[in-house]
Amino acid sequence: MSTKPSYYITTPIYYVNDVPHIGHAYTTLACDFMARFKRLDGFDVMFLTGTDEHGQKVEKSAEAAGVSPQDFCDKVSARFQDLAGAMNFSNDQFIRTTEERHKLSVQALWTRLMEKGYIYEDKYAGWYSVRDEAFYAEGELIKGEDGEKLAPTGAPVEWVEEPSYFFKLSAFEDKLLELYDADTDFVMPKSRLNEVRNFVSGGLLDLSISRTSFSWGVPVPGAEGHIMYVWIDALANYLTAVGFPDEQGDAYKTYWPADVHMVGKDILRFHAVYWPAFLLAADLPLPKRIFAHGWWTNEGQKISKSLGNVIDPFELIESYSLDATRYFLMREVPFGNDGDFSRSAFVNRCNADLANDFGNLAQRALSMIHKNCDGIMPTPGELTDEDTAILTAIDGLLPVVRNLMDKQAFNKALETIWKQVADTNVYFANAAPWGLKTSDPVRMGTILYVAAEAVRQLAILIQPIAPDAMEILLCQMSIAEEDRAFTCLGTGHRIKAGSSIPKPQGVFPRFQPPEDVE
Ligand code: MSP
Repeated sequence: MSTKPSYYITTPIYYVNDVPHIGHAYTTLACDFMARFKRLDGFDVMFLTGTDEHGQKVEKSAEAAGVSPQDFCDKVSARFQDLAGAMNFSNDQFIRTTEERHKLSVQALWTRLMEKGYIYEDKYAGWYSVRDEAFYAEGELIKGEDGEKLAPTGAPVEWVEEPSYFFKLSAFEDKLLELYDADTDFVMPKSRLNEVRNFVSGGLLDLSISRTSFSWGVPVPGAEGHIMYVWIDALANYLTAVGFPDEQGDAYKTYWPADVHMVGKDILRFHAVYWPAFLLAADLPLPKRIFAHGWWTNEGQKISKSLGNVIDPFELIESYSLDATRYFLMREVPFGNDGDFSRSAFVNRCNADLANDFGNLAQRALSMIHKNCDGIMPTPGELTDEDTAILTAIDGLLPVVRNLMDKQAFNKALETIWKQVADTNVYFANAAPWGLKTSDPVRMGTILYVAAEAVRQLAILIQPIAPDAMEILLCQMSIAEEDRAFTCLGTGHRIKAGSSIPKPQGVFPRFQPPEDVE
């Protein structure tokens, strides 16, 4: 087993009734950013994503497409795996709930809940929304335009009456409230914790956890005709991936409990109420944090297939490059809030931060070394107060950024790094090395050295969000692969004078504003 501290982060598993869009890319990107950061920071990371393939919604979509559910799942799941490749996601596993290992795991969890006395058989009579795969109480429903009953999400509901197994969710009301009070970081952001607390303190009903009116799912052990409710099936994926029910196995012992389950705000209730209740009932350790992020709209409008305004991540990457897409999504909106996607905001943000601020800094410093110092990193002379100040600020950046990343304050972490980029640009402009080639070559070399050292450290820190561009930049600076971890930040690994600097190429393209494209 690794001696490094472990870090287990998960995305929701995606329903295969829909092809991947920007919302799916967003959740996984947030986890990828975090996972890459933690790996570079010395953690043994397990980063899990995958597809949620069972349930009535998927069964109906397969039927509509005229193919078997399994063929349908194979096809759409492959699209999500393609997205992981296209977005350069560094997930360690891609789990599918139709895998045999998952069936065994979720059945073991069921049996455990049964043995502990938390499951009983009865009859369900109530409202169900296939689109949400959720049961709703009468009081939660809203009225549609024609007076029809709708789920609070606006999804259609149907009346369901069938034999069902129930989970004694009501027994966990107090324990859940105690959990939220004892660990206020369990649900983040804070506003979401209050939402969850209010829901639970309003009273919990027992939860129907099996269905008999369709067949696409994991069979309930020893109860013919019963299929598990898709959410108990889906949530258990987080355990399956680390080897459950083998609690003595290396994977389980290393990674469970998970450090963060990243979810969208729409599926918080399942993760912050049902999931901990299942785990408490099964006597299994609870995840350390559920983080609920916000939703993207497109130029002010809700994103939906029927409005035809779905943002295709493959198209974005094609038009704007991968690293710019990754940067924009994580930088533009405070993580946890809703955000509006617009092409002009995208172009402005990426041109300003990537092409201008960081791209130009790197390009100017490196091309001056290439041209004026024969492509050899100069030896610095005596450092001025300005040189020392900029190096000291950069040497101290990691703990500040780490602290923000550990709170999933992704936009703030990037903002902090880019503040340092801006300060380094000011330093460079004031030091004006371009006028010193003949008058004071030693001073020129010192300024270029300091700027290059700043770029080296910034590039190392920027790797988790822009891995492709930073790979190119760090190669251009002759920084070996093994010298790119966060242990190489700070004073201990200064860039080597005498190392060769080939003719640099810009790593961030500049985009045309959308109105100029048409
Ligand atoms: N299958 C369930 C999750 C089971 S986890 C044990 C599911 N799947 S989903 O495909 O419908 O949604 C997955 C994620 O995509 C959710 O976290 C959701 O919030 C996110 N998004 C879907 N549309 C989105 C936006 N427009 N913006 C941001 N994220 C959104 O729910």
